[in-house]
Order: sequence, then structure tokens, then C-alpha cells
Amino acid sequence: MMTQRKILVTSALPYANGAIHLGHMVEHIQTDVWVRFQKMRGHECHYVCADDTHGTPVMLAAEKQGVTPEQLIERVKTEHLADFSGFHIGYDNYYSTNSPENKQFSEQIYRKLSANDKIVSRTIEQLYDPEKQMFLPDRFVKGECPKCAARDQYGDNCEVCGATYSPTELKNPYSAVSGATPVLRSSEHFFFRLGECTDFLREWTTGSTLRADGVSQPHLQPEALNKMNEWIEGGLQDWDISRDAPYFGFEIPDAPGKYFYVWLDAPIGYMASFKNLCDRTGIDFDSYFNADSDAELYHFIGKDILYFHALFWPATLKFAGYRAPTGVFAHGFLTVDGQKMSKSRGTFITARSYLDCGLNPEWMRYYIAAKLNSRIEDIDLSLDDFVARVNADLVGKFINIASRAAGFLTRRFEGRLSAQIADLPLLDTLRAQADGIAAAYEAREYGRALRDIMALADAVNVYVDANKPWELARQEGEEARLHDVCTVLINAFRILAIYLKPVLPKLATDIEAFLDVAPLNWNDAQTLLLGHAVKPYQHLMQRVEPVLIEKLVEANKQSTPAAVTPASLGVEPLDDTIGIADFAKLDLRVGTVLEAGLVEGSDKLLRFKVDLGFETRQIFSGIRSAYPEPEKLIGRQVIVVANLAPRKMRFGVSEGMIVCASGNDDSQGLFLLDVDNGAKPGMRVS
Ligand code: MSP
Ligand code: ZN
Repeated sequence: MMTQRKILVTSALPYANGAIHLGHMVEHIQTDVWVRFQKMRGHECHYVCADDTHGTPVMLAAEKQGVTPEQLIERVKTEHLADFSGFHIGYDNYYSTNSPENKQFSEQIYRKLSANDKIVSRTIEQLYDPEKQMFLPDRFVKGECPKCAARDQYGDNCEVCGATYSPTELKNPYSAVSGATPVLRSSEHFFFRLGECTDFLREWTTGSTLRADGVSQPHLQPEALNKMNEWIEGGLQDWDISRDAPYFGFEIPDAPGKYFYVWLDAPIGYMASFKNLCDRTGIDFDSYFNADSDAELYHFIGKDILYFHALFWPATLKFAGYRAPTGVFAHGFLTVDGQKMSKSRGTFITARSYLDCGLNPEWMRYYIAAKLNSRIEDIDLSLDDFVARVNADLVGKFINIASRAAGFLTRRFEGRLSAQIADLPLLDTLRAQADGIAAAYEAREYGRALRDIMALADAVNVYVDANKPWELARQEGEEARLHDVCTVLINAFRILAIYLKPVLPKLATDIEAFLDVAPLNWNDAQTLLLGHAVKPYQHLMQRVEPVLIEKLVEANKQSTPAAVTPASLGVEPLDDTIGIADFAKLDLRVGTVLEAGLVEGSDKLLRFKVDLGFETRQIFSGIRSAYPEPEKLIGRQVIVVANLAPRKMRFGVSEGMIVCASGNDDSQGLFLLDVDNGAKPGMRVS
């Protein structure tokens, strides 16, 4: 008898401010296949997930949509769950990080970390948006790259030259929220002293856990371990776990106006989702999370969030008195046709669009699983290959086995399988692979599992071609032989269906209905189905039509080109709306340039004499860079702010202002305004 393992499995919690796309699906399919496999093996296995709801982006998105954050995350959770269910992801619980359980665990864990001297507070300086009155996360500060001067770059790194820097290094920074120029402000923050956990982390990252079944499970994949080593040996910095109001999240106990940073409470959301499941179903939560738990805890994640899961999270659990994970399984990123998913190419494919275009989710489950292994490699969805592979393997090799045998069974034998069969070598071959395929699933080598399964399907098709049931059906006295061949084929199909069931759960259910049997488990592959009547065969899976793929790509092409914003144009965001009375305060007049010249001692200014009809003004204007030969301006008309209070400058008094178009900075040029022919000096502009 196999030892029953107790296993808790998670997928990373998707952010509540975006739609589920095929990149997310890679992760949830990978996890779901593993969980279904463990359940089929008879282990106690629970799979939990949740939406990751907290943080500035959700808060601002809600504000923009005119709803509360709670309303936004509720709606998004419903959408996310519908998408995942559409792909047959079988969570035992899909919850939210904005839950009472999560609040309680977050506070409790924080208090325990504090009691263990792992929290310090420090005053730090951060960029603050004086208009919006909030501290700005790095992503919400934009400006020019300090390295290459590319404009419109985020506060943490430059997408043009790849430089990383701190937001305070940006040139001409502005708030992506309000457009205002951010100012430095100090505030008290709380830090998790990760450096104090170095010894433990060295041990945990390099270590493994002995499973209940005697197998030693390394905590990290070799590539992940290397990365963590680098980070650990580079010295672990204190981790800032607090944020100031306004913030959508949990307020920190005894620290009014301070909130837990989203990444503090997000992984705790795994526990909270599981707790919620335990409370509903009577599972013993403590036996999974106590420090001495012998249950296994696995996190499936993408490579971009390893740092959080392989350093912060084990340390958080450990120093709050809980067990650490048994394994963190990281995967690479999904590319489409060899490139990063792209909205303009239509390859940023949402889960919803895939389902709405009428594509079968199990095609994608199969394709992704066929590409997955246990390493942290990016995986590519090649759209042509997708069509070819699904049609050749799933439909051509697998489904056809049933369709080639079932008709004869129904017509000639009332659907009943032979009571005995002599011809077992093929089925023996199939059954003998159960352990090897199981080992591949267990090791997350799904590509290998599916290659082995398809090689078996090939063997079955060779058997069909060698035994030609369609010829047996035409020959006198071959009745018994035909019956046996069809019985072998249906049994072969059933065994393959068992092996494929973790990947194709819906198809497996349909096959169970066709075979008229109870849900199939892994060990059922060792038994045969004999003397049993199957139901009339109905086609189990369509081929992928290439037009569907065209439709899918079309559906994901952004109809409007990448959103045009003031920031993306390099111009200033719009100011607040004003009334006509405000505008009327500005007295703009047409003027004719009488004189224009350089200013001695200034490389920016030009000196103008402008005729306003009723009087002449002297105006200094900082447009020399755009008009290095000012004499050429003499005689042209310009627009002047005529009621601007005179300003005394080093070179004389400036009696007004000449208006000019410009971008966020002068490097985009400066452009004087013109009036059409016929306008006279002194005319009002309104
Ligand atoms: N909310 C955090 C996770 C918190 S877990 C306590 C987050 N959310 S996410 O929505 O940005 O990403 C969720 C998961 O999807 C991550 O594991 C991420 O690596 C994965 N993927 C996002 N895009 C992906 C691809 N293009 N390909 C594969 N996985 C990708 O991070
Ligand atoms: Zn740059």
C-alpha cells in the first residue's frame, strides 16, 4: 500500500487589476495538472488560490472607474474565476486577499515577527505627489532616463537602455497620477530584517525535505538555487513592508495611517485561502502549517517572483513560527510565435477571448503541458504548431482509436466488450508504462509524460493497421477476432485516457460517460474492462480549424493603437478645467515684431520690441535655442500675454510674454504662434 501524502498546492495569486491571459494560464494549467495527478494517485491534495487585491494600482483603477476598490475586486474575481473554470482549473478554493482570514493572519504574523525582533522602523525619504497627496510607488513616477535621457521612463528602470535606478535619479520627474512634479518627503516605514534571516535562508534554499513517502524533495530547482545563492551572498537588505495612506490594504496594528505593503499580505493569502477552505470542510489547518507539520506545501510561480517566494516567504513563515514550504516550483514565461506577448500583434491573448472564440480549452491544456518541463525555461506558443500538434496528437492519434473501434462494437455486439481476451501484449505494454509516466508527472516533466503517452498511442495505431478491424468486419467467421480487436482497442483507449486525465479532465469525463464507468484513477490502468457494455460513441473532440486561430488573433488586436496619453506624447497632462471667467482674465493680443536680438550675457534669452498697435512693449523670451537668428523674426506677428505684470530682469524689464508651443522640455523644440493674414497688432485673442 502506497503511503498517503498530505499536499497543499498553490498557484501565484493574480493581481486584481488585470485580465487573465495565456501567460497566467501556463501557470494554472501546470499546477492543475499536478494537482489532478496527485488526487488520481489517491493522495490528500488541496489546491488553493485567490486574487491579489491590495496596492496602489487597484486603488487608482477603482477611482478611475468611479467604484470602490471592494466593488472592483469583487467584479474582477468573478471574471477571473469564470476564466479559470473555463479552462477546467479545479481549485478547492479561490479566495481573495481582502478577507478577514488574511487580515488576521497578516496581523498575527507581523506581531510574531516583531516579537522575534525581525521588524525595525526607520524614516526614509520618498517621492511624494503634492497634488494627489500621496507617496508615489516607483512605477508611478516617470521622467527621463538618467543614463540615456529617453523620455517617459518609469521610476525603476528604463525600457530603452535597460538601466535600473531609483526614481529620485530621473530627470524632470513627474507623477504619472497627476502630472505634478514630485517632491521628496520623509515618512516612517517598517522593515523586515531579512539580513537577520541569512543563516536560515542559506539552509532552507540549499536544503530538501523528506516527504512522508520517504522521497527527498529539494526546496528549489537548481537554477533557482543558483540565483538565490547570488542574492544571499550579495547580502540581504531589509525589506520595506509598509506603505502610507492612502493605500488599499490592511492597516498595520498600532500604526495608524500605515498599511502592509501588498507583497507582505499576498503570500499570506495562500494560508488565508486554505484556512477558509478548512473552516468550511473540516480539514485540520494546523496539521498543514504548524512548524512540525509533515504535510507538503508547494508553490507554483513564475520566475519573476522567485525572490518573494524563495526568500521573503520562507523567512516570514519561519520567524512567525510556521513551517516553511516543501518546494517552490518556478516556470518560465510564455512567448507567442517566439516573441513577448504583444497587444498590437494580437498575441496578448486573454483567456476570455480564447474561450469566446470557441476554442476548446483542452487543446491549450494539451499544448502547454506538452511544452512544460521542470526547468525555468520560457515556453513558446507557436500558433501553427499549436494547430498541427493538437490535430496530429490528440485527434489523429488518440481520439481516432475510439472512433475506429466503437462503431463495430455498437453495431455488431450491442456495445458489449468481450468477456475475455487472449491478445494482451499490447495492453501489457501500455500498462507497464504507468510508473514511468507517473514519475514524469510527479517531476513536472509533462512534456516527457505526453511524449511517452503519444508513443503508446502510436503503438496502438500500429496494432489497428496490423489487425484491420474494417477488413475483419467484412470477412466470414472473423466475428470473434473482430470482437477481441475492438475490445483491445477500447481497453487501450481507456488506459491512455487515464494517463491523459490530469491534462484533459473534461475529455476524461466524457470518455468515462462513453465507457459507462466510474471516474478513473491512476491504478485503474492496471485493470481491464471486459464483458461490459459501452455507450454508443459520439465524437469526442473536433480538430482545430486554422480560421479559429485567425479569429483569436484578430480578437486580441487592440482596435485603437496603443493608448495615446499626454505622457506618451511627451507633453504635459491637461490642467484642471476652468470657467470662461478664468480665461477672460488673460489678455492675449496680436503683436508685430519690430526688433529682435540676442541678449549679451544670456544664452537663453532674446530681446523683442513688439508693436501692440496702441503701444510698444519690450519682452524677453527664452527661445534663443529655437531661434538662433532672431533678426529673421522681425516683421512677423506673435501672440502676447499683454496683461502679465511687468517683471524686472537682469537685462531690463519684460513687459509681457510671447506665447510659444513646447513639449515637456525644450529638446522637442519651441514654436512661436502665428495668426492668419489680415490680423492687426492689438487685436484680442479670445
Ligand atoms: N500578484 C502577484 C503574485 C502574488 S503571489 C503571492 C503577481 N501577479 S501577476 O498577475 O502579475 O502574475 C501572476 C503569475 O502569473 C506569476 O507567477 C507570473 O509569473 C505569472 N505570469 C504572468 N505573465 C506570464 C507569462 N507571460 N508567462 C508565464 N507566466 C506569467 O505576480
Ligand atoms: Zn535609458
